[in-house]
Amino acid sequence: MASEDPALAFVFGTRPEFIKCAPLIRGAERRGIGFEVIHTGQHYSRELDEVFFEQLDLPEPTYNLEIGSGSPGHQTGSMIAAIEPVLSAADPAVVVVHGDTNSTLAGSVTTCKLESSLAHVEAGLRSGDRSMPEEHNRVLTDHASDLLFAPTDRARDQLAAEGIEAGVWVTGNTIVDAVLEGREIAAERSDALDRLGLEPGGYVLLTAHRGANVDDPDRFRAILEGIARAAREHDLDCVYPAHPRSGMRLRTFGIEVPDPIRVIPPEDFLSFLALESEAALVVTDSGGVQEETAVLGTPCVTVRENTERQETIEIGSNRLAGSDPDRIVAAAREMVGAGGWEAPYGDGRAAERILDALEDHIGRDTPEDHAG
Ligand code: UD1
Ligand code: UDP
Repeated sequence: MASEDPALAFVFGTRPEFIKCAPLIRGAERRGIGFEVIHTGQHYSRELDEVFFEQLDLPEPTYNLEIGSGSPGHQTGSMIAAIEPVLSAADPAVVVVHGDTNSTLAGSVTTCKLESSLAHVEAGLRSGDRSMPEEHNRVLTDHASDLLFAPTDRARDQLAAEGIEAGVWVTGNTIVDAVLEGREIAAERSDALDRLGLEPGGYVLLTAHRGANVDDPDRFRAILEGIARAAREHDLDCVYPAHPRSGMRLRTFGIEVPDPIRVIPPEDFLSFLALESEAALVVTDSGGVQEETAVLGTPCVTVRENTERQETIEIGSNRLAGSDPDRIVAAAREMVGAGGWEAPYGDGRAAERILDALEDHIGRDTPEDHAG
């Protein structure tokens, strides 16, 4: 829903932002809050973009700035230049950004120069790893924000440790809202397992797209070797819905993907949820996937040296394994068959809490039946 004088503007541009903002956008529609959607165009391939708008019932973006891919500075700078006139004209009370991508940072920096308040959803996450672009994006965004929606107490405490205490709410993570809503529909409607010839509990699901992993041929090869060995040891199949960045790297590096890993195109959200739910093990370097596996009860191995999703390590749903094949095999041995943890990311009502706080901020009445 676009309106002449929107209360909110969502600025985003990548797959995880579409997925995690969807509960907020649909909630805003239900509440009759005026909003605009400003899509930076960071993700543009159909399987990373349109598929999610269609499946998650998201409105057409009010603007698609079509910035596309590029070097980090050029991409972020182009976004800022393109977002500014659109936000200036819309003059929303609050600009909402999510997570830690270049689109998040561009939305934040632009908003700082304007009259609107800035709200950061998924505030307070820290890996401590300054070599990752996402760490800079989340730190800078948190320090620029007026309203900060922390998914957990740990995230709130992190913000407090950095001197940010005002305007912070602990809301849970909207990924839980999205997963709880999506997983039953996925179980009923998705044919992903049949389509891919997979048995429930009979496969490893892999996603890896971080620059640090896939832009380095030796590291990418080592990760694939570790996962292939782990899958063979447990007599499991393995599917890898590869992000276009990873697909491109496999081709340009001429990497031979070891058996039994099967590279497939990225899946839509419901199919991916179905695959995650029934996997014996998920191996990933994705942030969102670490959270989803904690919610779905599927054991996870993360092929990174650190994580900003520390809660998943604490509850035992996730192990860090870096890129060394032996470590990946050992982590998989520990995790296959693991379960029984309590998910740390909330009760599936994060979007409602965030919208309550946003409505309070912009001075709208919040009817009691909104929470239902
Ligand atoms: C971005 C985010 C990352 C997030 C990921 C979600 C940053 C710094 N990184 O990484 O935090 O986890 O999105 O998936 O913002 N490409 C396509 N089609 C597309 C988009 C990208 O083919 O629709 C290819 C291009 O070759 C591009 C490369 O993927 O150069 C990387 O894309 P980019 O958006 O820069 O970063 P991601 O790896 O997608
Ligand atoms: N996802 C998807 N299809 C796929 C792989 C991932 O729908 O083939 C979803 C997944 O369910 C999760 C989100 O994409 O919600 C994670 O996005 P990604 O890994 O691209 O980014 P990150 O979370 O690491 O920023």
